[in-house]
Amino acid sequence: MTLRIDKLKRRDLRKLLRIESVVFPEPWSPEVFNSELALRKGRLYRGAWDGEEMAGYIGFMIVDDEAHMTTIATAPAYQRTGVATTMIVDGIRTLRADGVKHLSLEVAVNNEPAQALYRRFGFAPVAVRKNYYPVTGQDALVMWVYDVDSETYAERLVELAATGVPAEGGHPT
Ligand SMILES: CC(C)(COP(=O)(O)OP(=O)(O)OC[C@H]1O[C@@H](n2cnc3c(N)ncnc32)[C@H](O)[C@@H]1OP(=O)(O)O)[C@@H](O)C(=O)NCCC(=O)NCCS
Repeated sequence: MTLRIDKLKRRDLRKLLRIESVVFPEPWSPEVFNSELALRKGRLYRGAWDGEEMAGYIGFMIVDDEAHMTTIATAPAYQRTGVATTMIVDGIRTLRADGVKHLSLEVAVNNEPAQALYRRFGFAPVAVRKNYYPVTGQDALVMWVYDVDSETYAERLVELAATGVPAEGGHPT
């Protein structure tokens, strides 16, 4: 499989929302995605495609030299094949090129698969936000990774990319 990484467009939302509704206990509404995609600045949203099939998607909010991962999901049929790894590598390379140095995210305390993925990228927990998720009442871990602009981190990205899926589009490697 070779993935095509592309900017998310409004016309992708039908496929995206189908994935969103099955992988998240508290899915974002179409309105949230529409307003995020409508923002011209301060956001990076990309999809990973296997032909016409959407394999996954990822989003970041960017403020100065910091970025926050707002969402990431892999379609169930594609999970555990390296899709999320490939999307994060591509996202961080793109953000580095735009001057981003540090990254944060929130993840449910019981979401071990996602936490394992984030640890591979050097994210470490720095705080707990109590009752962060309104429907499940779950607490969230706040995780950060610093200095992704360093040469050492670039080397880490090369190693991580090798564990992902070959991809075209997105950030040039
Ligand atoms: C978390 C998620 C995005 C991972 O996507 P993915 O494409 O399956 O991830 P990858 O194949 O790139 O996995 C890379 C590594 O992450 C870890 N990982 C991923 N899924 C895992 C799982 N179910 N259990 C344990 N570790 C897991 C492993 O270390 C894995 O490497 P390995 O397969 O060589 O062991 C996916 O499970 C998902 O969409 N979950 C539902 C949505 C979600 O929870 N998003 C995160 C919100 S904070």
